[in-house]
This record gives sequence, C-alpha cells and structure tokens, in this order.
Amino acid sequence: MKISVIGAGNVGATCANVCAHKELANEIIMVDIKEGFAEGKALDIWETSPINLYDSRTIGVTNNYEATAGSEVVVITSGMPRKPGMSRDDLIETNAKIVKSVTEQVIKYSPDAKIVVVANPLDVMTYTAYLTAKVDSSKVFGMAGILDTARYRSFLALELNVSPKDIQAVLMGGHGDTMVPLPRYTTVGGIPVTELIEKDKLDAIIERTKFGGGEIVKLLGTSAWYAPGAAAAQMVEAIVRDQRRVFPVCALVNGQYGLDNLYIGVPVILGKNGIEKIIELDLNDEEKALLNASAEHVREVMGVLDDMNIIA
Ligand code: NAI
Ligand code: 2OP
Repeated sequence: MKISVIGAGNVGATCANVCAHKELANEIIMVDIKEGFAEGKALDIWETSPINLYDSRTIGVTNNYEATAGSEVVVITSGMPRKPGMSRDDLIETNAKIVKSVTEQVIKYSPDAKIVVVANPLDVMTYTAYLTAKVDSSKVFGMAGILDTARYRSFLALELNVSPKDIQAVLMGGHGDTMVPLPRYTTVGGIPVTELIEKDKLDAIIERTKFGGGEIVKLLGTSAWYAPGAAAAQMVEAIVRDQRRVFPVCALVNGQYGLDNLYIGVPVILGKNGIEKIIELDLNDEEKALLNASAEHVREVMGVLDDMNIIA
C-alpha cells in the first residue's frame, strides 16, 4: 500500500508524519517542487520511527511523480498559504495552476487513486482537481469540514470543560467565513449542546469557528498545519482502513440540498471507494438559507476560476 502527499510544506509534512505514525501504508511518498525539500522532511520523519515505533517508510522526491505510481490515496497540499490580511480566495490565481499541473501528474501515475485536496481556496481547488482528473467525483474530494468541526468541538470543550472526545458536530458549506456550523446537530455525550450552553455563548463559539483559520494566521503569520495535517490524515485512514466514517467533506453535489455541479462541504460516508454516500439532512429554513449563501460565495470564486480559462 502506498500513499502520496504532494507538497512537503507545513500541512503536507504534518499529514505524512501522522500517516506514518498510524502505519497507514508501507510507503508514504512526499513530493515537492523545491529541490531536496521533500527528501529532507521525509528523512527527518523516518528518523522518528525508532522512537515512535512504526515501520511505514517516508520517502521524499523532487517533482518525480513516477515514485507516486499506484498510490491508493494522494493528498494535494501543494499551494501557497495565506499571509495576514489575505483571504483564502486571494490564493486562487497561483494555486489553481499548481493544483491543475499536480493533478495531471498524479492521475497519470495513479489513475485509481482517491484524491484528497487541501490547497486553498479549498472548494474551488477541489473542483479544479476534479475537472483535471476526469474521474468519478466519488474519488476526488476536499478536506475542510473535519478541521472546521475540530475547531468548533475544541472551543466547545474549553467552554464546557469536558473532553473533546465527547463532542459530536456537523458543519456544512464552503471552507470560508460563510461556513455553516449546525447547533441542532451538535451533541455532548449524546446531550443536545443547546441544553448545556447559553445561546450567546454558543453564538460566540460559532463566530470564532468561522474565523478560526484567520485567528491562527494572525498569530503565526501563516496558516495552521497541525490540525489541518491531522484532519487530512484522518481522511486517509478512513479510506485505507475502509472505516466508513461519517465526516463533513467537500464533495460534488448534484441535486443534493438543491445544489448542482458544486463542490461544497456536506456530511458523507468515507470508505475504501472514497465517498460512499452523501448524507442529506433535513435542514430547516434558516439552515438552508445559510447553506445557500455559502454556496453562492463558492460559485463566485468558481467564476474566477472560469475566467482564468486554464481547464480544457
Ligand atoms: P507551505 O508553504 O508550508 O507548503 C506548500 C508546499 O507546496 C511548499 O513546500 C511548496 O514548495 C510546495 N509546492 C508549491 N508548488 C508545488 C508544485 N507545483 N508541486 C509540488 N509542490 C509544490 O503551505 P502549507 O501551510 O502547507 O499550506 C498548503 C496549502 O494548504 C495552502 O494553500 C493552504 O492555504 C492550504 N490549507 C488548507 C487547509 C484546509 O482546511 N483545506 C488548512 C490549512 C492550509
Ligand atoms: C485554515 O482554515 C488556512 O484554510 C486554512 O486554517
């Protein structure tokens, strides 16, 4: 079993490290465009194997996609992260070209791979990979919802002073400020969250979640990597171990939630074939309106991709 991670920067290296630690594959190939960079990161990770006690090999290469041939899963993290003052959407010009060229190489050597896109702006970069790969949409999807719900759950755990393990939540929509956390589907040890927290405190946590990426950018001068890398690795695990986990994932909707031909965050079952099923929740009018507004925003960014005219 082989997994490949394209882009050996902050998120890519963290994802590869977690995949190795969990022994998700015999070989974890890391690819970067910077000479020697993936090689160095892969070697550093491999040197933790006697300490962390695993035997998954991490192998780094510079732009050599032959090394990725036959990958079961490929995670695409290659792309610029944002700097303070930038929105994720500001990255589209640079990252769409990177995601397109990388996906062409990935699919040439691993035509059956499940592709997990991480580069931003996430929803439109996932769409770019899908249009480029020309495979079934069940095999091309994006990571955002696991990260966004993890932020939401971690903030709730702090507020309620309980274990984050016991907090379950669903979050939908695009990976941006218009994301839609769903309090109606948030529980703490099976108890609806609304029974445990006042409305104004919950509203404040939802606002913090929506801007959770920006909060880290302000503190670090670049975007987050520990939680994003771990979230991408959790998706890889669900696929290679055929766990059929229920996660919010950026998936192509065609009719579900009244939306068409759009990549956006929805709950899915994730297993060995990639997206096994999109789950349709019975949203109320307020939730539907928030999801539609988020979809509208994703469509605007898709318009920028169309104007770039880079996809045949
Ligand atoms: P980074 O700058 O640390 O790493 C990106 C790596 O991609 C660099 O090492 C760079 O050399 C490499 N790269 C660039 N062009 C390439 C190409 N054509 N082929 C191979 N490698 C190439 O950035 P970081 O922090 O790892 O973020 C990566 C991307 O993930 C960014 O676009 C960021 O916005 C996004 N991101 C998305 C999240 C999500 O929830 N979906 C969360 C966090 C980051
Ligand atoms: C995040 O949410 C920047 O998308 C990245 O941290």
